[in-house]
Amino acid sequence: MAGEARNLKVRIADVSKVYETRNGPTEALRNVSLDIYENEFICVVGPSGCGKSTLLNIIAGLQMPTSGKAYCNDHEITGTGTERGVVFQQYALFPWLTVKKNVVFALNMRGVKGADAEKEAMAYLKKVDLEKFADHYPKELSGGMKQRVAIARAYAANPEVLLMDEPFGALDAQTRTQLQSELLETWEKDMKTCFFITHDVDEAILLAQKVIIMSARPGRIKEIVPIDIPYPRNQETKLLPRFMELRNHIWEQVYKEYLEVRK
Ligand SMILES: Nc1ncnc2c1ncn2[C@@H]1O[C@H](COP(=O)(O)OP(=O)(O)O)[C@@H](O)[C@H]1O
Ligand SMILES: [Mg+2]
Repeated sequence: MAGEARNLKVRIADVSKVYETRNGPTEALRNVSLDIYENEFICVVGPSGCGKSTLLNIIAGLQMPTSGKAYCNDHEITGTGTERGVVFQQYALFPWLTVKKNVVFALNMRGVKGADAEKEAMAYLKKVDLEKFADHYPKELSGGMKQRVAIARAYAANPEVLLMDEPFGALDAQTRTQLQSELLETWEKDMKTCFFITHDVDEAILLAQKVIIMSARPGRIKEIVPIDIPYPRNQETKLLPRFMELRNHIWEQVYKEYLEVRK
């Protein structure tokens, strides 16, 4: 494997984003450049409003940069694509479909049909502990359960790049811990490219190979911290001395940016 070239999956090249609002322009991102390689797990942290979601939405193709370009597999990103799957902070389910059919939908999209899709859907629901709710409708579930369905559906879609915008942010601590472990296991097995936004520094270190610290608005990349803790990781990883060191360092940097926001 030595010397093997790594595949560049997503390339963000000098991207800036300005929103025009009634109160004038809001500069959300300024000159952001970032290379994301195949199989890489990247977490992004930074103060609220620093442009994290904007950056993710640009990769998703839901928003266009004001200047600069974003690429996936060497093609300029001009819209959404099935090779990029998104999990938002707030679940986005089809309310007229049952939990299982929501997941089956994602499987159908990638050509898995009929009984195979039904069976696979149940396996994905098991991952998020929702098999018992397969025949319920989204409105019959709690917020946390709906979010877990959205996550199962994103896994089922099996995209090359999984974009997750604070997917566990609204969940209770126990569910969050469980889904972190599940995501780690899934990634350690399938090695999909993950771009994951979180405001939880511990979560970022637990999951990522690289933590990107963003500066207060206009969002820029302040620092990229390689997380040199080997996989497999689990909740006990949080007790390692190296974990504490990384946490202290990242917190200090993020906290400086919080203070910038409050100025
Ligand atoms: N669609 C939009 N229109 C106008 N301003 C926006 C829009 N989306 C985000 N913003 C502004 O851009 C900045 C960055 O937002 P966002 O990317 O959501 O940050 P984060 O995800 O880090 O909290 C914020 O000041 C926000 O108010
Ligand atoms: Mg956001």
